[in-house]
Amino acid sequence: MSSAPGPRVLRDKGGFLSPVVSVVEHEGRPAVLKDYRSKNPVTRNVLAPLLVRREFGVLRHLEGIPGIPRAYAVVEKRALLLEFVDGKTLGKFKAGELPDAVFDRLCETVRAMHRRGVVHLDLRQKKNIVVAGGRPYLVDFANALRGRATAALRAVDESALLKWKQRNFPHLVTGADRAALADHKLLRRFWIFTPRGKSVR
Ligand SMILES: Nc1ncnc2c1ncn2[C@@H]1O[C@H](COP(=O)(O)OP(=O)(O)O)[C@@H](O)[C@H]1O
Ligand SMILES: [Mg+2]
Repeated sequence: MSSAPGPRVLRDKGGFLSPVVSVVEHEGRPAVLKDYRSKNPVTRNVLAPLLVRREFGVLRHLEGIPGIPRAYAVVEKRALLLEFVDGKTLGKFKAGELPDAVFDRLCETVRAMHRRGVVHLDLRQKKNIVVAGGRPYLVDFANALRGRATAALRAVDESALLKWKQRNFPHLVTGADRAALADHKLLRRFWIFTPRGKSVR
């Protein structure tokens, strides 16, 4: 591959709705561009302006919370420019590899976000938490909801925290967590089997 300078693509999985995510330069610093401009006409012209404006609004609303990347700008209504977190996704770390403070900070960030009335809803996705300089950052607010941080929706984010605790910080898991995880597993079994009309074994 050539090493010519140019945007470094972080993710371009194709598909109807997925933006091209790359690292670009913005005011002399690396930034992330989440770009729908090369997508099909429906996504580019109809959906992108809505999605980009919504995600930008959520990020601006969360500005100042440690662990949330800053939103810089919307480009041509179809791309979002935001702070680049130069790190590795949480899924790349092994159990016990990260200091406990990383988990504490992750919980603090999620709770601060909830206090501002935002739920993320996609924190189980292993690429949506990026760890840099000993702190986790939440990315991808495409599915986030603002002004709807009900207990039930906050629980979706809380269950993701528990998943990460179990995977990356197993020594922190408490008895109460284990009970919650067991409940959750049971729930998922119902979830999978009930719609197909099969009984739970
Ligand atoms: N601000 C950022 N800093 C570093 N990496 C990022 C940033 N935003 C996104 N990424 C990486 O790019 C991936 C794709 O971006 P994302 O916002 O999740 O797009 P999508 O909404 O299509 O899933 C993320 O999962 C993450 O690994
Ligand atoms: Mg994502």
